[in-house]
Amino acid sequence: MKTFLAICLFILTGISAALYFGFDHTSSSMQVQYDDEQEGLQDEVVIKFSHVVAENTPKGRAARRFASLVRNRTNGEVQVEIYPNGTLYNDQNEYQALKDGHIQMIAPATSKLTDRFPRWQVLDLPYAFPTYQAVEEAYQGLIGETLLEDLPQDQVRGLTFWYNGYKQITSSEKPLIHPSDFERTHFRIMPSPVIAKQFEALGASTSELPFNKTYTNLEVDFINGQENTFSNIYSKKLYQEQDYLTISNHGYLGYVVLMNEDFWKNLTPDHQEVIEQALTETTDWIRRHSIEMNDAHLREMKRSESLEVHYLSNQQKEHWKDRFQRVYRETEPIIGKTLMEEVTRIQETY
Ligand code: SIN
Repeated sequence: MKTFLAICLFILTGISAALYFGFDHTSSSMQVQYDDEQEGLQDEVVIKFSHVVAENTPKGRAARRFASLVRNRTNGEVQVEIYPNGTLYNDQNEYQALKDGHIQMIAPATSKLTDRFPRWQVLDLPYAFPTYQAVEEAYQGLIGETLLEDLPQDQVRGLTFWYNGYKQITSSEKPLIHPSDFERTHFRIMPSPVIAKQFEALGASTSELPFNKTYTNLEVDFINGQENTFSNIYSKKLYQEQDYLTISNHGYLGYVVLMNEDFWKNLTPDHQEVIEQALTETTDWIRRHSIEMNDAHLREMKRSESLEVHYLSNQQKEHWKDRFQRVYRETEPIIGKTLMEEVTRIQETY
């Protein structure tokens, strides 16, 4: 009997101790301290914006400008968190991450959508848009409008086009002036079939590589060269691994700014309006400033004594264009007659 009573006492003590220590009895009796930094945190909207370039580039600076406009005009209710240099997602997985809602905004080079939407190759046709106004007309006019129609099928919203600049070519082998100079050379390209055809027409071979792997592949001589804007060549130090820069302006590298559609739909109309207005202003800013940023980066590279810079003459450009005729012929069935005719119209206008 004594043993039985001892066991009961033991169990009762255990239950009382569990009840006392097992629950946070302080929370019911103590007032939670007021913390003004926590105020409104639940209402804060966070837009994760991932991109692959450096911050001192047209896209890097535009993204920061956009973020600051949105934060100021929503009194901090909408925060745009920027992840540059591919630190969160790289150019191979950022589109999927956007679709899956892991991030809310990206601004890939338009070439990177050509795998998914082949007619986006129209923007990569060599020498398609001869002046900055021509590029603007392509983005703002029929071509841009038509391409953006592809995106809703992926639950992705195309917000605007952003500008960077004309692409140039670098090489470690020899100056690239005549098409024959490209023979037996190997280039890094963005994943766009028309860009592969462009190099093929010049007699070179290509590998599709992520932007942030370009430097290493130049360093180990897996590739002899690459094409990009001055600002990307400078900010990623690609020129330090190259001996020759050909200023060819043979293609334009620009961006499409994308948002996850479900995320957009869940924003309040007020926030949507602020975002749209901030994007309009940022687009105008990058259009005007991307040219001077690229020029400044060219000036910096010209200081490097190890880099030989060649400007293609108009006559030399004509030789390249002759080679590129077959690229147009091969790409027309993919791009379609309407967009191809629009390219021709723009070329004739400018
Ligand atoms: C970028 O400007 O976003 C990167 C372009 C590239 O992959 O070459």
